[in-house]
Amino acid sequence: MSDRAQPSAQPSAQRPSRPSAPSPGRSAAKPRPPRRSPSPPWDVHRLPSAEGKTFLVTGGNAGIGYFVAEQLAGTGATVVLGSRSSSKAAAAEACIRARVPGARVRHVPLDLADLPSLEAVAGALALGHLDAVVHNAGVALDDPPRRVTEDGHELMFGTNHLGHVALTRWLAPLLAAAPAARVVTVGSFAAKTERLDLADLESAGDDYRPKRTYGRSKLAQMYFGLTLDRRLRAAGSPVRSLVAHPGGALDSLTPSRPPVHVRTSGERLRGLPAGLLVQGKDAGAWPVVRAVLDPSATGGSLWGPRVFGLRGEPRREPVWDHLKDTAVAERLWDVSCALIGAEPGPGFG
Ligand SMILES: NC(=O)c1ccc[n+]([C@@H]2O[C@H](COP(=O)([O-])OP(=O)(O)OC[C@H]3O[C@@H](n4cnc5c(N)ncnc54)[C@H](OP(=O)(O)O)[C@@H]3O)[C@@H](O)[C@H]2O)c1
Repeated sequence: MSDRAQPSAQPSAQRPSRPSAPSPGRSAAKPRPPRRSPSPPWDVHRLPSAEGKTFLVTGGNAGIGYFVAEQLAGTGATVVLGSRSSSKAAAAEACIRARVPGARVRHVPLDLADLPSLEAVAGALALGHLDAVVHNAGVALDDPPRRVTEDGHELMFGTNHLGHVALTRWLAPLLAAAPAARVVTVGSFAAKTERLDLADLESAGDDYRPKRTYGRSKLAQMYFGLTLDRRLRAAGSPVRSLVAHPGGALDSLTPSRPPVHVRTSGERLRGLPAGLLVQGKDAGAWPVVRAVLDPSATGGSLWGPRVFGLRGEPRREPVWDHLKDTAVAERLWDVSCALIGAEPGPGFG
């Protein structure tokens, strides 16, 4: 188990930078205006306090979402796990409470593969406002056959993309009621080499390849996150939308959190070589958590791990070229709204 994965027991405020001391022997120098101190470096183990804020993490009961929730709980915020399994969510809550003394954590039912059910999520939250939602939950199929959601959409596009589009729509009033809410969409490195097929968004053609469909569903999510931010700005909304990706995050490199995740010593040893390239899900959570909390993170920005975009400290990275194609993005927005039965209005606000 890695200590690096543990959030501080007590939320810690970022350290204020100290004014620099005058250098000796320069008393005759003309007084200079005070230098603007640079913002302190981001420390994944000393997160700023988010006491009083409330965050919803979809799929917060397992994997990266669990670690996002655990790390956010360490800031003093209230964290709500959105989960399709009440028993898994309860186990994750208990695990977070055991690691973060005084953690404020609870859960709401959430099934992204069942679009009509998502309308109830906002009510189940029982909140006056929501400070951030993390669109983390996701499904990835390795093998055919093509599968569909309750609503008949291709499973990965329907769950990862359409489910989160619909959820955003229903959460919009709660997000707009917060002073400066954030929508943080979890994309994927796998989307970097993919391109959308706007004529076949649901991979209904003969050549069904699950890995490609997964990569495209993540790409659709990333387009959505960036388009949402443009539309929110245009509408004068205080809500911001950011995109983050975890790099490569393997269970074998992830510290145990029984019963949520148990890693045997054999799995840990076998996973060690992979650690040169990728990381655990605890570290995969870092860019996502930074996108939620960093006061300097602006809407429309992309966050990922520092080392080749696959592992390491979280940092802002340039938005990938193909994500800047606003014609594709706007078309995807309109089609997605039609598929979930929403008006393609400005940011759902
Ligand atoms: N791991 C990586 O290397 C990697 C790389 C790039 C991007 N990502 C992205 O990071 C996110 C988390 O990945 P992960 O590796 O942590 O995956 P994971 O361990 O498989 O966890 C996925 C989470 O999503 C939930 N989920 C799946 N379908 C759902 C649905 N219909 N409704 C609500 N929740 C649902 C799962 O709930 P159940 O427990 O009920 O199944 C689980 O909580 C995903 O968006 C993934 O695309 C991961």
